[in-house]
Amino acid sequence: MGTLRFKYGPVFDTNLRVYTVRIKSKPISNPPTFGCDTFRTTHRFELGDARTLANVASRSVDLVVTSPPYPMIEMWDPLFRELNPATGRALDHGKGARAFDLMHSELDRVWAEVVRGLKDGGFACVNIGDAARTLNGTFELYPNHARVIEGMRGLGMSMLPGVLWRKTTNKPNKFLGSGMLPPHAYITLEHEHVLVFRKGRSRRFSQNENARRGQSSYFWEERNSWFSDAWTDVRGTDQRKRTGARTRSAAFPLALPYRLISMYSLQGDVVLDPFSGTGTTTVAAACAGRSSIAVDMDRKIQEEARRRLLQSLPELQGTVEGRLRAHREFLRRSKRPPSTGGPVSHVYGFPVVTQQERHIRFWRPTQVRPGPGNTVEVDYGPSLEE
Ligand SMILES: C[S@@+](CC[C@H](N)C(=O)[O-])C[C@H]1O[C@@H](n2cnc3c(N)ncnc32)[C@H](O)[C@@H]1O
Repeated sequence: MGTLRFKYGPVFDTNLRVYTVRIKSKPISNPPTFGCDTFRTTHRFELGDARTLANVASRSVDLVVTSPPYPMIEMWDPLFRELNPATGRALDHGKGARAFDLMHSELDRVWAEVVRGLKDGGFACVNIGDAARTLNGTFELYPNHARVIEGMRGLGMSMLPGVLWRKTTNKPNKFLGSGMLPPHAYITLEHEHVLVFRKGRSRRFSQNENARRGQSSYFWEERNSWFSDAWTDVRGTDQRKRTGARTRSAAFPLALPYRLISMYSLQGDVVLDPFSGTGTTTVAAACAGRSSIAVDMDRKIQEEARRRLLQSLPELQGTVEGRLRAHREFLRRSKRPPSTGGPVSHVYGFPVVTQQERHIRFWRPTQVRPGPGNTVEVDYGPSLEE
């Protein structure tokens, strides 16, 4: 056993137990060798109403990534009518502004639960699109993103710079309104928002968490595109492909929660999605070596999400391998490759651009299986290239 700086300290598992780590005695500049080379994440599926997250303990979650039903989008009218019948009456009487407020009042209850469940310093990322709709003969924009910001800030969350997600769409009705005649033609909404909030002050890291933080780093070239305020390279999900519980699932693409989870949490953290739908956040968490809690009130869609995770091993492995492949490709194409004598990945031996990336480590999912109760467990080993 060597004397080690904390950076090379203990490894964790995502049940948040700390493994006793055997680290071979090596000079600090050499790659650390961890005595523990496997770990596990746990993914819990909760059937229930996110307005009361009864099974989520206060201050137990590191990150929330979610996409709620979008108020004033017709697909979600029946749900909002069910959540509060007054919403249905407002819609029936063509009172758009009232219906919009009532729908958001229901979402506000969920945001309050999200804030309660988050640890101090934890993040909440909310993907939401605005709605444009004609009610009572009047076409109007319902700015959902602005109303969610108001709700979250009202609950004391700090807002951070977010992302405009530009979706590539093929809308047949691209020209809304009066066509070529001014002034009643309307701009087509082709973007959604990813709003980012933090609870309280910046997170502080314990010694154990600092080790996890180093392993959870991302590549320099990933940072350059992920931390841009406009995402144009994330394709929307083809809604027609899903034939399960609902004809349209409103699922977001895996890349969206995967990026956010990699940006705002550490390996071993717990990610919550209170509107889990088909479980895309859960699959993304499993890819990234994070545990998760998926809440949805629709039994069929919840079952579909669980089945999806149980069958996701190739997708999990492909995501991990894809990131390593993309970095090698970046090195190959780079006009100014990282210099000889510059920083090198301790685990993979390839060059990286900054010192911060040296400890990056991707765990390779090896097994996905049912766990106790309503959970699914994912086991990991070292990635192929170690
Ligand atoms: C926009 S979809 C989420 C899609 C998800 N991101 C995915 O990739 O599949 C919203 C989900 O929230 C669920 N939902 C709506 N209101 C809810 C509530 N009060 N509690 C729990 N789930 C709710 C719906 O059943 C639906 O599956």
